[in-house]
Amino acid sequence: MASSDPDSRAFHDFEHAGWERAATFYADAFGELTAQTAGALLDAVGAKQGTRLLDIACGPGFIAGAAAHRGATVVGLDFSAAMVVEARRRLPALTFQEGDAEALPFDAASFDAAVMNFGVLHLARPDTALAEAFRVLRPGGRYGLTVWAAPERAVGFGLALRAIETFGTADVRLPEGPPFFRFSDAAETRRTLESIGFTGVEVRELPLIWRPASADAVFDALLRGGVRTAAVLRAQTPDALAAIRDAIGRGVAPYARDGGFEIPMPAVLASATKS
Ligand SMILES: C[S@@+](CC[C@H](N)C(=O)[O-])C[C@H]1O[C@@H](n2cnc3c(N)ncnc32)[C@H](O)[C@@H]1O
Repeated sequence: MASSDPDSRAFHDFEHAGWERAATFYADAFGELTAQTAGALLDAVGAKQGTRLLDIACGPGFIAGAAAHRGATVVGLDFSAAMVVEARRRLPALTFQEGDAEALPFDAASFDAAVMNFGVLHLARPDTALAEAFRVLRPGGRYGLTVWAAPERAVGFGLALRAIETFGTADVRLPEGPPFFRFSDAAETRRTLESIGFTGVEVRELPLIWRPASADAVFDALLRGGVRTAAVLRAQTPDALAAIRDAIGRGVAPYARDGGFEIPMPAVLASATKS
């Protein structure tokens, strides 16, 4: 457990408990979506045969699996024991271990590449975690992270947040954490990575599409497949929650395609070198 000040400790523990709860449902809720970054993220860090790659906050292991498919030697790490169980169940031939992104259990310069797919937005101390990734990379090693684009662009989040504000309340007491969309801002991501010592920072958007089978699948994913938004939803009154569910259903209706949905959920990919 890496967090030391009381606020970040509370947020870290809140996220940890949330992921332990969400672990078995997360892959069904978001897996097809978050795994869409794999090709671009692995290209950005130059993952290929023989690359020693660390997948930090690996969840069910989507990126680790894709990297292994390229012939990389992969370690997946996650602080949720339930997620590690899930990753091992899905990819029994790969190495997954429990550990904290804010205090990586590896020696300096152990990896050629490190990635964090939709992990940094869940961390109590993201700057510490980025510095840890820097430490475990060899000189010349490559780092890549992804986050959601801002909610005006990541439609699923945007309409959920609007539904909560309109029909419920976003004023829910949760342990205070860093802003969810901090790293959606390319300038902020670049500044942070460069302040840690990374060079050659590149930031670009990836056009991900969320394809839930039904409108209720969107609501269920938000209610059960994550942590912060899920906690806000669970804190609503039953009437407000029902109204939010209906509003999300109306919000996704324009994105209906071929019996399902295609909801724009762009991601931001940042990559850099430890020189
Ligand atoms: C949104 S999921 C992303 C999972 C996966 N990378 C993917 O591509 O779908 C966030 C993951 O970060 C993990 N996580 C959050 N905080 C962490 C920390 N401090 N150290 C390690 N893992 C952490 C959670 O347990 C969860 O599996």
